[in-house]
Amino acid sequence: MVLKLTQKMNKKIFIKTFGCQMNEYDSNRIFDTVKKIGFTKTENLDETDCYLLNTCHIREKAKEKVYHEIGRVKKNFRFKKKPLVIIAGCVAQAENEEMLKREPYIDIIIGPQSYHKINNKIEEFLVKQKKIDDTEFDAVSKFNYLDKIKNLSSKVSSFLTIQEGCDKFCNFCVVPYTRGPEYSRPFNEIIDEAKILSENGVREIILLGQNVNAYCNQNFRLSNLILEIEKIPEIKRIRYTTSHPKDMTEDLINLYAISKKLMPLVHLPVQSGSDKILKLMNRKHLIRDYINIFEKLKTINPKIEFSSDFIIAYPGEEEKDFEATFDLIKNIKFINSFSFIFSPRPGTTASNLDLIDKKISLKRLEKVQRQLFDHQIVMNKSLEGKEIKVLVENKTENNNKFFGKSEYMTSVIFDGNEQDMGNEIKVKIKNSNQNTLIGENLSNSEQRVA
Ligand code: SAM
Ligand code: SF4
Ligand code: F3S
Repeated sequence: MVLKLTQKMNKKIFIKTFGCQMNEYDSNRIFDTVKKIGFTKTENLDETDCYLLNTCHIREKAKEKVYHEIGRVKKNFRFKKKPLVIIAGCVAQAENEEMLKREPYIDIIIGPQSYHKINNKIEEFLVKQKKIDDTEFDAVSKFNYLDKIKNLSSKVSSFLTIQEGCDKFCNFCVVPYTRGPEYSRPFNEIIDEAKILSENGVREIILLGQNVNAYCNQNFRLSNLILEIEKIPEIKRIRYTTSHPKDMTEDLINLYAISKKLMPLVHLPVQSGSDKILKLMNRKHLIRDYINIFEKLKTINPKIEFSSDFIIAYPGEEEKDFEATFDLIKNIKFINSFSFIFSPRPGTTASNLDLIDKKISLKRLEKVQRQLFDHQIVMNKSLEGKEIKVLVENKTENNNKFFGKSEYMTSVIFDGNEQDMGNEIKVKIKNSNQNTLIGENLSNSEQRVA
Protein backbone atom coordinates (compact mmCIF):
# COMPACT_ATOMS: atom_id res chain seq x y z
CA MET A 1 0.00 0.00 0.00
CA VAL A 2 1.35 3.44 -0.90
CA LEU A 3 0.53 6.09 1.65
CA LYS A 4 0.35 9.77 0.74
CA LEU A 5 1.86 12.44 2.91
CA THR A 6 -0.63 15.16 3.59
CA GLN A 7 1.76 17.47 5.32
CA LYS A 8 5.52 17.96 5.49
CA MET A 9 7.09 16.58 8.63
CA ASN A 10 9.52 19.26 9.68
CA LYS A 11 11.86 16.77 11.33
CA LYS A 12 15.61 16.33 11.63
CA ILE A 13 17.69 13.45 10.28
CA PHE A 14 21.17 12.40 11.42
CA ILE A 15 23.00 10.35 8.78
CA LYS A 16 26.15 8.36 9.54
CA THR A 17 28.00 6.67 6.68
CA PHE A 18 30.50 3.81 6.68
CA GLY A 19 32.21 2.24 3.65
CA CYS A 20 33.04 3.24 0.13
CA GLN A 21 32.43 6.39 -1.94
CA MET A 22 29.24 4.87 -3.30
CA ASN A 23 27.81 4.78 0.20
CA GLU A 24 28.70 8.47 0.54
CA TYR A 25 26.95 9.22 -2.74
CA ASP A 26 23.94 7.15 -1.62
CA SER A 27 23.71 8.96 1.72
CA ASN A 28 23.57 12.28 -0.12
CA ARG A 29 20.87 11.00 -2.47
CA ILE A 30 18.90 9.63 0.50
CA PHE A 31 19.03 13.10 2.02
CA ASP A 32 17.95 14.72 -1.30
CA THR A 33 14.97 12.32 -1.14
CA VAL A 34 13.85 12.71 2.49
CA LYS A 35 14.16 16.47 2.10
CA LYS A 36 11.04 16.18 -0.07
CA ILE A 37 9.01 15.15 2.96
CA GLY A 38 10.38 17.87 5.20
CA PHE A 39 13.55 16.48 6.76
CA THR A 40 16.51 18.75 7.44
CA LYS A 41 19.98 17.47 8.23
CA THR A 42 21.51 17.68 11.69
CA GLU A 43 25.04 16.92 12.88
CA ASN A 44 23.80 16.85 16.47
CA LEU A 45 22.64 13.38 17.50
CA ASP A 46 20.83 14.76 20.58
CA GLU A 47 18.29 16.68 18.54
CA THR A 48 17.57 14.11 15.84
CA ASP A 49 14.13 12.63 15.06
CA CYS A 50 15.56 10.06 12.69
CA TYR A 51 18.89 8.22 12.89
CA LEU A 52 20.05 6.62 9.64
CA LEU A 53 23.13 4.41 9.51
CA ASN A 54 24.46 3.58 6.04
CA THR A 55 26.51 0.44 6.55
CA CYS A 56 29.42 -1.39 4.88
CA HIS A 57 29.95 -5.18 4.87
CA ILE A 58 33.30 -5.44 3.10
CA ARG A 59 35.49 -6.54 6.01
CA GLU A 60 35.32 -8.12 9.47
CA LYS A 61 33.34 -6.77 12.39
CA ALA A 62 30.91 -5.00 10.02
CA LYS A 63 27.88 -6.33 11.90
CA GLU A 64 29.38 -5.68 15.32
CA LYS A 65 30.13 -2.10 14.32
CA VAL A 66 26.45 -1.60 13.47
CA TYR A 67 25.21 -3.01 16.79
CA HIS A 68 27.82 -0.96 18.60
CA GLU A 69 26.56 2.21 16.90
CA ILE A 70 22.94 1.39 17.75
CA GLY A 71 24.05 0.80 21.35
CA ARG A 72 25.44 4.34 21.43
CA VAL A 73 22.22 5.81 20.08
CA LYS A 74 20.17 3.81 22.59
CA LYS A 75 22.30 5.11 25.44
CA ASN A 76 21.97 8.64 24.17
CA PHE A 77 18.17 8.43 24.06
CA ARG A 78 17.70 6.40 27.26
CA PHE A 79 15.63 9.10 28.93
CA LYS A 80 14.25 10.70 25.78
CA LYS A 81 11.81 9.85 23.03
CA LYS A 82 13.43 7.28 20.77
CA PRO A 83 14.26 8.48 17.24
CA LEU A 84 13.17 6.56 14.15
CA VAL A 85 16.09 4.17 13.47
CA ILE A 86 16.86 3.18 9.87
CA ILE A 87 19.66 0.82 8.85
CA ALA A 88 20.63 1.13 5.19
CA GLY A 89 23.52 -0.14 3.04
CA CYS A 90 25.33 -3.40 2.56
CA VAL A 91 25.01 -4.91 6.07
CA ALA A 92 21.28 -4.15 5.91
CA GLN A 93 21.12 -6.01 2.59
CA ALA A 94 23.08 -9.01 3.87
CA GLU A 95 21.55 -9.38 7.33
CA ASN A 96 18.04 -7.88 6.95
CA GLU A 97 15.58 -10.01 9.00
CA GLU A 98 18.37 -11.19 11.29
CA MET A 99 18.97 -7.60 12.39
CA LEU A 100 15.33 -6.85 13.05
CA LYS A 101 15.14 -9.95 15.24
CA ARG A 102 18.34 -9.24 17.15
CA GLU A 103 17.85 -5.50 17.70
CA PRO A 104 14.26 -4.33 18.33
CA TYR A 105 15.53 -0.73 18.46
CA ILE A 106 15.76 -0.84 14.63
CA ASP A 107 12.56 0.29 12.86
CA ILE A 108 13.38 0.10 9.17
CA ILE A 109 15.90 -1.98 7.20
CA ILE A 110 16.43 -0.71 3.68
CA GLY A 111 18.82 -2.20 1.09
CA PRO A 112 20.93 -0.22 -1.41
CA GLN A 113 18.48 -0.87 -4.28
CA SER A 114 15.43 0.39 -2.36
CA TYR A 115 16.40 3.95 -1.43
CA HIS A 116 13.87 5.38 -3.85
CA LYS A 117 11.15 3.97 -1.59
CA ILE A 118 12.48 5.49 1.62
CA ASN A 119 9.83 8.23 1.96
CA ASN A 120 7.01 5.72 1.61
CA LYS A 121 8.69 3.38 4.07
CA ILE A 122 9.09 6.14 6.67
CA GLU A 123 5.48 7.14 6.23
CA GLU A 124 4.26 3.57 6.38
CA PHE A 125 6.16 3.01 9.61
CA LEU A 126 4.84 6.18 11.20
CA VAL A 127 1.27 5.21 10.37
CA LYS A 128 1.37 1.50 11.13
CA GLN A 129 4.19 1.33 13.71
CA LYS A 130 5.20 -2.00 12.16
CA LYS A 131 8.86 -2.92 11.46
CA ILE A 132 9.86 -2.75 7.80
CA ASP A 133 12.40 -4.76 5.80
CA ASP A 134 12.87 -3.76 2.15
CA THR A 135 15.89 -5.39 0.57
CA GLU A 136 14.76 -6.13 -2.98
CA PHE A 137 17.19 -5.82 -5.91
CA ASP A 138 15.75 -3.31 -8.35
CA ALA A 139 18.40 -0.91 -9.64
CA VAL A 140 16.28 0.17 -12.63
CA SER A 141 13.41 1.55 -10.51
CA LYS A 142 15.86 3.12 -8.09
CA PHE A 143 17.71 5.15 -10.72
CA ASN A 144 14.49 5.95 -12.61
CA TYR A 145 13.28 7.58 -9.42
CA LEU A 146 16.54 9.23 -8.37
CA ASP A 147 16.93 10.74 -11.85
CA LYS A 148 13.86 12.83 -11.10
CA ILE A 149 15.33 14.18 -7.88
CA LYS A 150 18.09 16.71 -8.45
CA ASN A 151 21.49 15.85 -7.06
CA LEU A 152 22.02 18.88 -4.84
CA SER A 153 25.73 18.38 -4.18
CA SER A 154 27.54 21.69 -4.37
CA LYS A 155 30.98 20.61 -3.22
CA VAL A 156 33.89 21.47 -5.52
CA SER A 157 34.53 17.73 -5.92
CA SER A 158 31.50 15.48 -6.19
CA PHE A 159 30.71 11.80 -6.75
CA LEU A 160 28.41 10.64 -9.52
CA THR A 161 27.31 6.99 -9.61
CA ILE A 162 27.19 5.63 -13.17
CA GLN A 163 27.20 1.91 -12.52
CA GLU A 164 26.24 -0.30 -9.65
CA GLY A 165 26.60 -3.96 -8.71
CA CYS A 166 29.04 -6.60 -9.86
CA ASP A 167 28.96 -9.82 -11.91
CA LYS A 168 32.59 -10.80 -11.32
CA PHE A 169 32.23 -12.79 -8.10
CA CYS A 170 35.78 -12.61 -6.80
CA ASN A 171 35.89 -15.37 -4.22
CA PHE A 172 36.55 -13.04 -1.27
CA CYS A 173 34.00 -10.30 -1.98
CA VAL A 174 30.47 -9.60 -0.71
CA VAL A 175 29.64 -6.88 -3.25
CA PRO A 176 27.82 -9.11 -5.78
CA TYR A 177 25.58 -10.26 -2.91
CA THR A 178 24.95 -6.87 -1.34
CA ARG A 179 24.72 -4.68 -4.46
CA GLY A 180 23.32 -7.25 -6.88
CA PRO A 181 23.99 -7.66 -10.61
CA GLU A 182 25.76 -5.03 -12.73
CA TYR A 183 23.58 -2.17 -13.86
CA SER A 184 24.73 0.81 -15.96
CA ARG A 185 22.65 3.99 -15.84
CA PRO A 186 21.47 5.52 -19.13
CA PHE A 187 24.08 7.80 -20.75
CA ASN A 188 21.85 10.89 -21.03
CA GLU A 189 20.73 10.75 -17.42
CA ILE A 190 24.34 10.73 -16.25
CA ILE A 191 25.18 13.70 -18.49
CA ASP A 192 22.13 15.58 -17.16
CA GLU A 193 23.26 14.91 -13.59
CA ALA A 194 26.80 16.10 -14.44
CA LYS A 195 25.33 19.34 -15.86
CA ILE A 196 23.24 19.93 -12.74
CA LEU A 197 26.32 19.35 -10.59
CA SER A 198 28.32 21.86 -12.65
CA GLU A 199 25.50 24.42 -12.25
CA ASN A 200 25.66 23.86 -8.46
CA GLY A 201 29.38 24.76 -8.42
CA VAL A 202 30.95 21.30 -8.80
CA ARG A 203 34.27 21.45 -10.67
CA GLU A 204 35.54 17.88 -10.31
CA ILE A 205 33.42 14.80 -10.99
CA ILE A 206 34.40 11.39 -9.68
CA LEU A 207 32.46 8.74 -11.61
CA LEU A 208 31.57 5.82 -9.38
CA GLY A 209 30.81 2.16 -9.80
CA GLN A 210 31.77 -1.06 -8.05
CA ASN A 211 33.05 -1.96 -11.52
CA VAL A 212 33.10 1.47 -13.07
CA ASN A 213 35.02 0.57 -16.22
CA ALA A 214 32.52 -2.19 -17.01
CA TYR A 215 30.02 0.64 -17.70
CA CYS A 216 28.03 -0.17 -20.81
CA ASN A 217 24.68 1.27 -21.80
CA GLN A 218 23.45 0.99 -25.40
CA ASN A 219 27.04 0.64 -26.58
CA PHE A 220 28.17 3.73 -24.71
CA ARG A 221 31.27 2.95 -22.65
CA LEU A 222 33.07 4.77 -19.86
CA SER A 223 35.33 6.47 -22.45
CA ASN A 224 32.27 7.94 -24.24
CA LEU A 225 30.94 9.27 -20.95
CA ILE A 226 34.21 10.92 -20.00
CA LEU A 227 34.51 12.61 -23.40
CA GLU A 228 30.95 13.94 -23.12
CA ILE A 229 31.38 15.22 -19.55
CA GLU A 230 34.60 16.86 -20.67
CA LYS A 231 32.52 19.12 -22.93
CA ILE A 232 30.90 20.80 -19.89
CA PRO A 233 33.07 23.94 -19.63
CA GLU A 234 32.76 24.35 -15.83
CA ILE A 235 34.04 20.82 -15.17
CA LYS A 236 37.81 20.96 -14.82
CA ARG A 237 38.71 17.47 -13.64
CA ILE A 238 37.33 13.97 -14.15
CA ARG A 239 38.21 10.80 -12.23
CA TYR A 240 36.66 7.35 -12.01
CA THR A 241 36.72 4.55 -9.43
CA THR A 242 36.83 1.57 -8.91
CA SER A 243 38.07 -0.26 -11.99
CA HIS A 244 38.86 -3.88 -12.70
CA PRO A 245 41.94 -4.76 -14.79
CA LYS A 246 39.79 -7.03 -16.99
CA ASP A 247 37.72 -4.03 -18.14
CA MET A 248 40.67 -1.72 -18.96
CA THR A 249 39.70 -1.68 -22.64
CA GLU A 250 41.76 -0.07 -25.42
CA ASP A 251 39.31 2.83 -25.82
CA LEU A 252 39.75 3.72 -22.15
CA ILE A 253 43.53 3.37 -22.27
CA ASN A 254 43.74 5.48 -25.44
CA LEU A 255 41.56 8.15 -23.86
CA TYR A 256 44.58 9.18 -21.78
CA ALA A 257 46.20 10.37 -25.03
CA ILE A 258 43.37 12.73 -25.94
CA SER A 259 41.46 13.69 -22.80
CA LYS A 260 42.24 17.11 -21.37
CA LYS A 261 40.40 16.65 -18.10
CA LEU A 262 41.04 13.03 -17.12
CA MET A 263 43.46 13.04 -14.17
CA PRO A 264 46.76 11.14 -14.47
CA LEU A 265 46.15 8.88 -11.44
CA VAL A 266 44.85 5.41 -12.32
CA HIS A 267 43.33 3.54 -9.39
CA LEU A 268 43.45 -0.07 -10.54
CA PRO A 269 43.16 -2.72 -7.81
CA VAL A 270 45.42 -5.73 -8.38
CA GLN A 271 44.94 -7.44 -4.96
CA SER A 272 48.00 -9.70 -5.35
CA GLY A 273 51.20 -9.94 -7.40
CA SER A 274 51.00 -13.74 -7.69
CA ASP A 275 49.22 -15.49 -10.56
CA LYS A 276 48.47 -18.42 -8.26
CA ILE A 277 46.67 -16.17 -5.77
CA LEU A 278 44.85 -14.23 -8.50
CA LYS A 279 43.49 -17.58 -9.73
CA LEU A 280 42.46 -18.62 -6.20
CA MET A 281 40.71 -15.24 -5.85
CA ASN A 282 38.94 -15.71 -9.21
CA ARG A 283 40.27 -12.37 -10.49
CA LYS A 284 40.24 -13.59 -14.11
CA HIS A 285 43.53 -12.03 -15.24
CA LEU A 286 47.28 -12.61 -14.95
CA ILE A 287 49.96 -10.28 -13.60
CA ARG A 288 51.33 -9.97 -17.15
CA ASP A 289 47.96 -8.46 -18.23
CA TYR A 290 48.24 -5.90 -15.43
CA ILE A 291 51.82 -4.97 -16.35
CA ASN A 292 50.76 -4.60 -20.02
CA ILE A 293 48.14 -2.03 -18.99
CA PHE A 294 50.72 -0.21 -16.88
CA GLU A 295 53.24 -0.14 -19.73
CA LYS A 296 50.72 1.04 -22.32
CA LEU A 297 49.56 3.88 -20.09
CA LYS A 298 53.08 4.94 -19.18
CA THR A 299 53.94 5.03 -22.89
CA ILE A 300 50.92 7.19 -23.63
CA ASN A 301 51.69 9.54 -20.75
CA PRO A 302 54.76 9.04 -18.50
CA LYS A 303 53.14 11.37 -15.92
CA ILE A 304 50.52 8.72 -15.10
CA GLU A 305 50.83 7.15 -11.64
CA PHE A 306 49.08 4.06 -10.30
CA SER A 307 47.31 3.33 -7.04
CA SER A 308 45.80 0.02 -6.01
CA ASP A 309 44.10 -2.20 -3.43
CA PHE A 310 45.91 -5.21 -1.97
CA ILE A 311 44.60 -8.17 -0.01
CA ILE A 312 47.40 -9.60 2.10
CA ALA A 313 47.50 -13.17 3.46
CA TYR A 314 44.78 -14.56 1.25
CA PRO A 315 44.36 -18.28 2.06
CA GLY A 316 47.10 -20.19 0.21
CA GLU A 317 49.49 -17.19 0.06
CA GLU A 318 52.99 -18.65 0.52
CA GLU A 319 56.10 -16.59 1.15
CA LYS A 320 56.94 -16.62 -2.57
CA ASP A 321 53.44 -15.33 -3.47
CA PHE A 322 53.80 -12.55 -0.95
CA GLU A 323 57.24 -11.67 -2.34
CA ALA A 324 55.67 -11.46 -5.82
CA THR A 325 53.22 -8.85 -4.47
CA PHE A 326 56.06 -7.00 -2.81
CA ASP A 327 58.12 -7.01 -6.05
CA LEU A 328 55.14 -5.73 -8.04
CA ILE A 329 54.72 -2.86 -5.56
CA LYS A 330 58.40 -1.95 -5.89
CA ASN A 331 58.31 -2.13 -9.69
CA ILE A 332 55.12 -0.16 -10.28
CA LYS A 333 55.79 2.27 -7.41
CA PHE A 334 52.12 2.59 -6.51
CA ILE A 335 51.07 5.73 -4.65
CA ASN A 336 47.98 6.36 -2.44
CA SER A 337 47.10 2.66 -2.12
CA PHE A 338 44.98 0.60 0.26
CA SER A 339 46.04 -2.71 1.79
CA PHE A 340 44.07 -5.05 4.04
CA ILE A 341 44.49 -8.48 5.60
CA PHE A 342 42.04 -10.97 4.08
CA SER A 343 38.80 -11.06 6.01
CA PRO A 344 36.47 -14.04 5.46
CA ARG A 345 33.01 -12.79 4.52
CA PRO A 346 29.91 -14.90 5.18
CA GLY A 347 28.34 -16.33 2.04
CA THR A 348 31.41 -15.91 -0.19
CA THR A 349 33.37 -18.82 -1.71
CA ALA A 350 36.43 -17.95 0.40
CA SER A 351 34.51 -17.78 3.68
CA ASN A 352 35.60 -21.18 5.00
CA LEU A 353 39.19 -21.41 3.79
CA ASP A 354 42.09 -21.96 6.20
CA LEU A 355 43.43 -18.65 7.40
CA ILE A 356 47.11 -17.72 7.47
CA ASP A 357 48.63 -17.32 10.91
CA LYS A 358 47.79 -13.88 12.35
CA LYS A 359 51.39 -12.96 13.19
CA ILE A 360 52.59 -13.79 9.67
CA SER A 361 49.65 -11.87 8.14
CA LEU A 362 50.42 -8.78 10.22
CA LYS A 363 54.12 -8.92 9.41
CA ARG A 364 53.33 -9.08 5.69
CA LEU A 365 50.84 -6.24 5.93
CA GLU A 366 53.33 -4.03 7.77
CA LYS A 367 56.03 -4.73 5.19
CA VAL A 368 53.70 -3.85 2.30
CA GLN A 369 52.40 -0.72 4.00
CA ARG A 370 55.87 0.53 4.80
CA GLN A 371 56.83 0.18 1.13
CA LEU A 372 53.62 1.89 -0.05
CA PHE A 373 54.12 4.75 2.40
CA ASP A 374 57.74 5.09 1.26
CA HIS A 375 56.56 5.59 -2.33
CA GLN A 376 54.16 8.28 -1.19
CA ILE A 377 56.86 10.07 0.80
CA VAL A 378 59.32 9.91 -2.11
CA MET A 379 56.67 11.10 -4.58
CA ASN A 380 55.69 14.02 -2.32
CA LYS A 381 59.32 14.96 -1.60
CA SER A 382 60.03 15.02 -5.35
CA LEU A 383 57.48 17.83 -5.68
CA GLU A 384 59.22 20.13 -3.19
CA GLY A 385 60.38 23.28 -4.99
CA LYS A 386 58.07 22.55 -7.95
CA GLU A 387 54.91 24.32 -9.12
CA ILE A 388 51.86 22.09 -9.33
CA LYS A 389 48.21 22.54 -10.30
CA VAL A 390 45.75 22.44 -7.41
CA LEU A 391 41.96 22.46 -7.51
CA VAL A 392 40.95 24.60 -4.53
CA GLU A 393 38.22 22.93 -2.46
CA ASN A 394 37.67 24.85 0.77
CA LYS A 395 39.08 26.46 3.89
CA THR A 396 40.82 24.24 6.43
CA GLU A 397 38.85 23.48 9.61
CA ASN A 398 40.51 26.24 11.64
CA ASN A 399 39.73 28.67 8.77
CA ASN A 400 43.39 29.65 8.68
CA LYS A 401 44.37 28.23 5.33
CA PHE A 402 42.87 26.75 2.21
CA PHE A 403 43.13 23.22 0.90
CA GLY A 404 42.77 21.48 -2.43
CA LYS A 405 43.95 18.42 -4.31
CA SER A 406 46.88 17.81 -6.62
CA GLU A 407 46.28 15.94 -9.88
CA TYR A 408 47.27 12.80 -7.93
CA MET A 409 44.62 13.36 -5.23
CA THR A 410 47.13 14.45 -2.60
CA SER A 411 45.91 17.13 -0.19
CA VAL A 412 47.64 20.49 -0.58
CA ILE A 413 47.52 23.26 2.03
CA PHE A 414 48.31 26.91 1.23
CA ASP A 415 47.31 30.51 1.91
CA GLY A 416 44.33 31.19 -0.29
CA ASN A 417 41.53 33.53 -1.24
CA GLU A 418 37.78 32.95 -1.22
CA GLN A 419 37.68 33.66 -4.95
CA ASP A 420 40.09 30.78 -5.64
CA MET A 421 37.54 28.20 -4.45
CA GLY A 422 36.61 25.97 -7.41
CA ASN A 423 39.56 27.23 -9.46
CA GLU A 424 42.68 25.40 -10.51
CA ILE A 425 45.61 27.43 -9.26
CA LYS A 426 49.38 27.05 -9.22
CA VAL A 427 51.02 26.25 -5.91
CA LYS A 428 54.76 26.09 -5.27
CA ILE A 429 55.44 23.17 -2.92
CA LYS A 430 57.63 24.11 0.03
CA ASN A 431 57.25 21.14 2.31
CA SER A 432 55.70 17.68 2.40
CA ASN A 433 54.92 14.63 4.48
CA GLN A 434 53.33 11.26 3.71
CA ASN A 435 49.82 12.58 3.13
CA THR A 436 50.09 16.32 2.60
CA LEU A 437 51.85 18.93 0.51
CA ILE A 438 52.32 22.40 1.92
CA GLY A 439 52.90 25.23 -0.51
CA GLU A 440 52.74 28.84 -1.56
CA ASN A 441 49.81 30.04 -3.61
CA LEU A 442 51.11 31.63 -6.81
CA SER A 443 47.69 32.63 -8.10
CA ASN A 444 48.07 36.16 -6.70
CA SER A 445 51.15 36.76 -8.82
CA GLU A 446 49.30 36.51 -12.13
CA GLN A 447 50.11 32.81 -12.44
CA ARG A 448 46.52 31.59 -12.39
CA VAL A 449 46.08 28.44 -14.50
CA ALA A 450 43.68 28.92 -17.39
N1 SAM B 1 35.69 -3.64 -7.63
C1 SAM B 1 36.94 -3.42 -7.06
C2 SAM B 1 37.94 -4.45 -7.62
O1 SAM B 1 37.60 -5.26 -8.40
O2 SAM B 1 39.07 -4.45 -7.18
C3 SAM B 1 36.96 -3.47 -5.55
C4 SAM B 1 35.81 -3.00 -4.77
S1 SAM B 1 35.86 -3.48 -3.08
C5 SAM B 1 34.48 -2.57 -2.59
C6 SAM B 1 37.21 -2.53 -2.40
C7 SAM B 1 38.39 -3.31 -1.87
O3 SAM B 1 38.06 -3.98 -0.68
C8 SAM B 1 38.89 -4.43 -2.76
O4 SAM B 1 39.70 -3.96 -3.80
C9 SAM B 1 39.66 -5.31 -1.82
O5 SAM B 1 41.03 -4.95 -1.76
C10 SAM B 1 38.99 -5.05 -0.48
N2 SAM B 1 38.26 -6.25 -0.04
C11 SAM B 1 37.13 -6.75 -0.56
N3 SAM B 1 36.78 -7.88 0.07
C12 SAM B 1 37.73 -8.10 1.02
C13 SAM B 1 37.93 -9.12 1.98
N4 SAM B 1 37.10 -10.14 2.09
N5 SAM B 1 39.00 -9.03 2.81
C14 SAM B 1 39.86 -7.98 2.70
N6 SAM B 1 39.72 -6.99 1.80
C15 SAM B 1 38.67 -7.05 0.96
FE1 SF4 C 1 34.17 -7.38 -5.48
FE2 SF4 C 1 35.43 -5.86 -7.26
FE3 SF4 C 1 35.57 -8.51 -7.41
FE4 SF4 C 1 33.29 -7.27 -7.97
S1 SF4 C 1 35.23 -7.11 -9.08
S2 SF4 C 1 33.51 -9.11 -6.76
S3 SF4 C 1 33.35 -5.58 -6.50
S4 SF4 C 1 36.39 -7.18 -5.77
FE1 F3S D 1 31.12 -1.55 1.67
FE2 F3S D 1 29.02 -2.02 0.22
FE3 F3S D 1 30.79 -0.21 -0.53
S1 F3S D 1 30.18 -3.52 1.31
S2 F3S D 1 32.67 -1.03 0.25
S3 F3S D 1 29.52 -0.11 1.25
S4 F3S D 1 29.65 -1.57 -1.85
